[in-house]
Amino acid sequence: MAKTTTKRRYVHGQWSNRWAFILAATGSAVGLGNIWKFPYIAGENGGGAFVLVYILCIAVIGIPIMMGEVMLGRRARQSPINTMRSLSAQEGRNGMWKYVGWMGVAAGFLILSYYSVIAGWALAYVVRTASGMFTIHTADGVANIFGEFVSDPEKLLFWHTVFMVMTVIVVARGVQHGLEKAVRFLMPALFILLLVLVGYAMNTGFFNEGLHFLFDADFSKLTGEGVLTAMGHAFFTLSLGMGAIMIYGSYLPQEASIAKTSITIGIADTVVALLAGLAIFPIVFANGLEPAAGPSLIFETLPVAFGQMPGGTLFGSLFFILLVFAAWTSAISLIEPAVAYLSENHGLDRVMSSAVIGIGVWALGILTAMSFNRWAFNFHFFGKAKENGMFDIFDILTANIMLPLGGILIALFAGWGMRRHSSQDEMQMKSIISYDVWSFIIRYVSPTLTIIILLHLFGFFDRFL
Ligand code: PHE
Repeated sequence: MAKTTTKRRYVHGQWSNRWAFILAATGSAVGLGNIWKFPYIAGENGGGAFVLVYILCIAVIGIPIMMGEVMLGRRARQSPINTMRSLSAQEGRNGMWKYVGWMGVAAGFLILSYYSVIAGWALAYVVRTASGMFTIHTADGVANIFGEFVSDPEKLLFWHTVFMVMTVIVVARGVQHGLEKAVRFLMPALFILLLVLVGYAMNTGFFNEGLHFLFDADFSKLTGEGVLTAMGHAFFTLSLGMGAIMIYGSYLPQEASIAKTSITIGIADTVVALLAGLAIFPIVFANGLEPAAGPSLIFETLPVAFGQMPGGTLFGSLFFILLVFAAWTSAISLIEPAVAYLSENHGLDRVMSSAVIGIGVWALGILTAMSFNRWAFNFHFFGKAKENGMFDIFDILTANIMLPLGGILIALFAGWGMRRHSSQDEMQMKSIISYDVWSFIIRYVSPTLTIIILLHLFGFFDRFL
């Protein structure tokens, strides 16, 4: 023990420049959340009105909190737990703030445990598409293939394991060697491939149906649970509220503009999600599929398109490869706060810390892998039937509760906990008016809106209605 305490503190790397940060943070933000989750929750919640609320949440809650989270990270340049601890000391605040960091580590752990299982599906689908499995099938056949796949725990566990190993390897190599290189080519490639898919969707003859579904806001279809899901997803898709963006911010060079960077990332993330929706829903309608199919949606729709379009085997495999990469760059950021904490505080090197955390997450992931088959159970959440036991529980607990709660606390600390001159100094905004606008939003608007939506979760308002 004595030996580890005398060891030098782990010194953080830094991104080579602002673009490296934008790419890495976009890599964290763009992931399964955009391509797998957004379409299926939009489908379950009736489309247009849900999408509108989601976009509003990104603009009014997400981006301002992202600026706050990056600011805190860059100010302290440590893992989220240590960032919250040292900033609260510096600013003369209560030491309890460090628990925001702890909650983030816990959320990252839980999210990655199921995220990896779903990323495993994408991995399996690379191989399956490449082998031509979908070329001769109708929509029904494709759905059956998926059904058989998820009912086999062995398959899910195998691919979950492969994905966790991939994640641990990159994280172990550290911020510049691992993360930066991976992201530089993959993000643009994913974007282009999505455009190709949207092009295909335009030719299905059902593009207009897709557009109407995504953009006609019919509020009679939106439930309270839908609003909560939209808000939770704004946090999830931007990687907010758990320290991922904070730790990436801690590697951000001093001269980069936090506001511009955050806005760029928020827009890029939203565009990718909308493109995914535009690619998927026309295919859903063209094949008479169910928009509310749930987590299986992209695995039941896209292979139909790949089976029919010229060059589909190639495009399809490429698409799933890129989806895996998108998931990979997000997974890295989910585990990074915990790994950085272990290396900073317990003298473990990156390889050891990544391995330790990776094994823990892997073990927890077994619960999700089994929740689609042997250990599946049903329950109701706000009157909506959930069929996939622990997977749904982890998802609700993290996206709908832990991330918004973490986000509120981060907003409050950035807005009220930090003294004005510290946050102003770190934000480096050109005009004082923009700083004041941001400060007003993060102090009052984002936390209040988030709290109102969260309270709804506990049925708080029902008694008054
Ligand atoms: N933003 C990622 C996605 O949309 C998921 C994620 C959540 C990553 C929280 C990091 C932190 O897929």
